[in-house]
Amino acid sequence: MLDNLHPQVHASRERPARLHPDAILLEGDVTDPEAWDTLLSQWNPKRVLHLAAETGTGQSLTEGSRHASVNVVGTTRMLDAFAAKGIAPEKIVLTSSRAVYGEGRWVTVEGKDVYPGQRGVDMLSAGQWDFPGLTSQPHNAECTFPAPTSVYGATKLTQEHVLSAWCRSFDVPYTTLRLQNVYGVGQSLFNSYTGIVSLFCRLARKNQSIPVYEDGEIIRDFVCIDDVARAVVMALMSDGADGEVLDVGTGIGTSIQQLATMVAGIYDAPLPHLTAQFRNGDVRAAWCEIPRTTSVLGWSPRVSLGEGVAQLVTWIEEQNLVD
Ligand SMILES: NC(=O)c1ccc[n+]([C@@H]2O[C@H](COP(=O)([O-])OP(=O)(O)OC[C@H]3O[C@@H](n4cnc5c(N)ncnc54)[C@H](O)[C@@H]3O)[C@@H](O)[C@H]2O)c1
Repeated sequence: MLDNLHPQVHASRERPARLHPDAILLEGDVTDPEAWDTLLSQWNPKRVLHLAAETGTGQSLTEGSRHASVNVVGTTRMLDAFAAKGIAPEKIVLTSSRAVYGEGRWVTVEGKDVYPGQRGVDMLSAGQWDFPGLTSQPHNAECTFPAPTSVYGATKLTQEHVLSAWCRSFDVPYTTLRLQNVYGVGQSLFNSYTGIVSLFCRLARKNQSIPVYEDGEIIRDFVCIDDVARAVVMALMSDGADGEVLDVGTGIGTSIQQLATMVAGIYDAPLPHLTAQFRNGDVRAAWCEIPRTTSVLGWSPRVSLGEGVAQLVTWIEEQNLVD
């Protein structure tokens, strides 16, 4: 595997302790042609999982060039390197993101589809969190048009297009997985730009009341890393998913207030409090429908939010954190 052990994710810059001992880690940057040259001089990859990315959604609004470079150019560098060496993998799987949908599809009271676009700063400053008269709908790659509201989401959508164009040109099978909010054992506890579940755990374990943005009713689909890992492996090994764009989530929308209350309860911490703060570029509602993913991959999630958060809490307590 190629990974630059990004300092925002890997605080110690050391090989992650949970990485399988058989995994060979080459430390290098996906945007660096020499890193690809070194890797492909030694290996001829058959099944490729493309995970490396800049992932800070809020951060991407002010550091967009970094996101574009790693997520878009990092992908073209990989594909250029394959082409230069005459490598045509048997399969490439891309982990894309629900961020490509932005606010996604909403419906009017008459049942008409609407793409309301982005909530502006004026709207959010006035405490107008929802789009008046509209109801949010779950993401579905078959019928929800992508409309990113963050630079991160725009780079992930571009990454999808880059990969599909290249793979179709060279007849290389590929599958795109649009992941919802992934959490679980092994996630970075140091990245202050991502990971709301672990952030809430870190606050609650210090007996702090968790601050909850807007009115607490932001909706997300929290999917456990164990389920995501299974979906990724199934997509890598399956021929049935070639050329597919598939949503990976639980199919269940959970409000941030519900999540914060659950985490506070586990730690016996004070109740969460609403702050009415907001983050520019945050979408109001994001969850997905998964029947297509289930029928194509034979995959469905197994870990409930309660079970997954309990596993994460146990693991965090084993980390001997200093704060
Ligand atoms: N975690 C989520 O909720 C979520 C949701 C949707 C999509 N995804 C996608 O899943 C993938 C993994 O996400 P994650 O949450 O594990 O992210 P992460 O930020 O925790 O990890 C990203 C990994 O990529 C590596 N990396 C970053 N820049 C690199 C570079 N220039 N060269 C080589 N390696 C580099 C980092 O060192 C790290 O190991 C990403 O493609 C992301 O877009 C994640």
